Amino acid sequence: MADKLDLSTCSSVADSQTTESESPSAPSMSALSHIPFEFNAENAKRAEEIISRYPPQYKKAAVIPLLDIGQRQNKGWTSISVMNYIANLLEMPPMRVYEVATFYTMFNREPIGENFVQVCTTTPCMLRGAYEILDTVCQDLGGIKPGETTKDGKFTVVEVECQGACSNAPMLVVGDDFYEDLTPETTKKVLDAFRKGEKPKPGPQSGRHTSENSAGLTALASKPYGPGEFCTEEFA
Ligand code: FES
Repeated sequence: MADKLDLSTCSSVADSQTTESESPSAPSMSALSHIPFEFNAENAKRAEEIISRYPPQYKKAAVIPLLDIGQRQNKGWTSISVMNYIANLLEMPPMRVYEVATFYTMFNREPIGENFVQVCTTTPCMLRGAYEILDTVCQDLGGIKPGETTKDGKFTVVEVECQGACSNAPMLVVGDDFYEDLTPETTKKVLDAFRKGEKPKPGPQSGRHTSENSAGLTALASKPYGPGEFCTEEFA
């Protein structure tokens, strides 16, 4: 079991060593800079539980889940304060935490909008019209470009690599949810819902249930022949 965490030692590390860089696309970067960070009570408890899964000498193995918790608490981005706090918590050199946070693209190193829109443009999505979807998103959000945030801070759009939902291409992600089988029309509907503060139903926007054949059943459509279905009573 890991030692009990002394979170009090982590609260003042904030930006004592490094400062944030300004981002022209960020809605209120200057206001967000130099803000000390520490886990709230709920996240501190979660962090403690995660760290306890590892032997004390290997607690740095918790760096990714802790960065994720930190990013979620910090309005979706991993600031230098978040990284320094976690480095202190895990007794790691801050540089080791920066290396992890800058390697994995799911850690945002700049502030993002309220709704983080990630449009996949890898080959299967590209072949199914991903760039049309990306253009639709950018135009619908007032002509911003990938990597930018709308002036009202409501949306950030980025172009990403495969999200593992190729059978429902083209797709985009908002927050943690996938919106799939998109057309320009359904893309606008999804964005409209988020604009109104609603949460549209994730998944295929085409009427498909999941990733079943959209042309209907074309294989295994006939009655199974034995042995198999009728071998034993319980399969009858
Ligand atoms: S290529 Fe877009 S989800 Fe795989």
